[in-house]
This record gives sequence, structure tokens and C-alpha cells, in this order.
Amino acid sequence: MIHSSLEFLRCVKCGLKLELDVFESRKEIEEGILRCKKCSLEFPIIQKIPILWDDFSKYLSSRRILGGKLYKLSSSTKLKSFVKKSLNAKDTDRSYLEEKWARIYQNSKTSKFYSTIKKNLDSIRSSKLVLEHGCSIGIVTSHLANSCDQVFGVDRSFSAIQIAKKQFKPNLDYFVADSLTPVFGKLQFDLVLALNVLEIIEPKVLLKSISKQITNGYFVLSDPYDFDRGPRSVKNPLDESSLRTNLKNLGFRISSSTKNPSFIPWNLKLNSRATLNYKVDLVISEKS
Ligand SMILES: C[S@@+](CC[C@H](N)C(=O)[O-])C[C@H]1O[C@@H](n2cnc3c(N)ncnc32)[C@H](O)[C@@H]1O
Ligand SMILES: [Zn+2]
Repeated sequence: MIHSSLEFLRCVKCGLKLELDVFESRKEIEEGILRCKKCSLEFPIIQKIPILWDDFSKYLSSRRILGGKLYKLSSSTKLKSFVKKSLNAKDTDRSYLEEKWARIYQNSKTSKFYSTIKKNLDSIRSSKLVLEHGCSIGIVTSHLANSCDQVFGVDRSFSAIQIAKKQFKPNLDYFVADSLTPVFGKLQFDLVLALNVLEIIEPKVLLKSISKQITNGYFVLSDPYDFDRGPRSVKNPLDESSLRTNLKNLGFRISSSTKNPSFIPWNLKLNSRATLNYKVDLVISEKS
């Protein structure tokens, strides 16, 4: 975690500023604990990555393999015992799944989707404060950091953020967190992105929550509307038209270039013999 990021972070439960206890620091804070005095909640920083989950035990209950890795990756005794005592509950493990997808995104960086998104983002005015929800390995955040003042990426996958963190830029930082929790309190952003996450994060809830993060700025979304995911499906899917209507109801204007649905190829290389070929719709919207 970059030292200056502390001033932007808030307790995901009560919204208060966090206190920082540093165990190891070089160019960045390598290891430490972020603490909320009011809730007595503690958030670990492991391998430069803050995990801002209100219940760390619960986060690890579905990632026990990751829990073992985080234990090994921690060097201070304080952090080791913090991870150990959180490793109790059990659930279906998503560690390998998240590792696998982080690898897939790494192998799919050259998909036309990313160059198209970057081109579109370059065409809107450069922003001061930027946030990407579900940023994965940071392909788009890293590009934005070349032209914007301060860029943050949030993703619930530690494996994805670990890859994103390999590229250091002084104005770019990442957090493991749930996009539906108020990691940044009431902070307002000039640009917020949510690319291909609507099947995984309850869409209307996410739109409402992001709308509160923008008073004057852009909201850029893309999606393949692949909502049929069995028991894991979101409750209220959106389509090309209802997404735009929801945005308008929240006070956003849709840019004329994305008023009509688009079909941008998004190819995910699953392995050397299989590719998942989506066609995604892009929406650039603005509120002022
Ligand atoms: C389909 S991927 C899209 C990744 C990236 N936006 C892109 O377009 O290349 C969805 C991402 O959202 C993350 N994610 C899912 N639910 C989340 C949540 N509640 N909060 C934060 N990130 C979440 C996943 O870990 C994954 O990296
Ligand atoms: Zn708190």
C-alpha cells in the first residue's frame, strides 16, 4: 500500500478513518494492520495489499488455501497470528478459481476489448480521482494512471490484485475489498468504472452505490449480459435497455456515442485450445 492511500480509506463498517500500524515498510507499506478504533475491526496488509473485509475470517472461510498462503507470505509474528486465528470457518474454496481467472485475464490482455476501452477512455477528459470496481489484474487502471492524478482499483480477488500490484506507479493503488462496501466512505470520484461485473455484483445495488460516488463525473460500464449462472446468478439482471434506463433514473446522461448498444469483442483465453468469446456493450455516462 502506498503511504498516501491511507487518507482515502475508511472503515467499511462505520466509515471512520483508519489507523495504521506498520510492521514492515520500504517504498510501500509491505505489512501492517489497518484498525478502526470505533468498531475494533482490523484489516491486514499482506504483500503490500490491504484486505478491507469487515470479517476477515469470513473472507478466508471460502479461501482456506489462500489463507494458508497468506500465513506463509506474512513475515511478522503479529500478522502470522492474525491470519492463523482467522483460519477457522470452512466453506467451498474459491482460492484456485480466483487464481485461475487471474491467469486467464493475464493471458487475455491483448483482447480487442482492452484497446477499445482504453481508446474510449482517452477520448474523455482526464480525471483527477478514479476508481475501478472489479479491476482484476489492473489492465485498465494501469493505463488510466498514465493520464489521471490518482487511480484506485478494488477487487475481491487477492490473486488478481497480487498481479496488479506488480506494476508500481506512484499514483496507483489497489485494495482487496467488496465493491458494495464503503471502502472510501463518502469520497467523490471524477471517473468510476465497472467493466464486466454486472453478472457477479447485484447490478441495481451496484449502480446505486456507484451513483453515490459521483456528483460530477463519468461512469463507464461494459457488459456481456451473461446472466445465466445457475444458483450463483444475480437476482435482478439488466439488459442493454434497462441498464441505460437505470442510469438515466440515477441522473446520468448517456454519451451520444454509446446511446446504442455495441458489440465489442472480448476474448478470454481459457487455455491454449479454448477461448471464451464475448461481445460486450459499452456505456459511457456522465453526471454534473
Ligand atoms: C468478469 S471479471 C472482470 C474483470 C475486469 N473488470 C475486466 O473486464 O477485465 C469480474 C471481476 O470482479 C471481481 N469481483 C466480483 N465480485 C466482486 C465484489 N463484490 N467486489 C469487488 N470485486 C468483485 C472478480 O474478482 C473479478 O476480478
Ligand atoms: Zn469502524
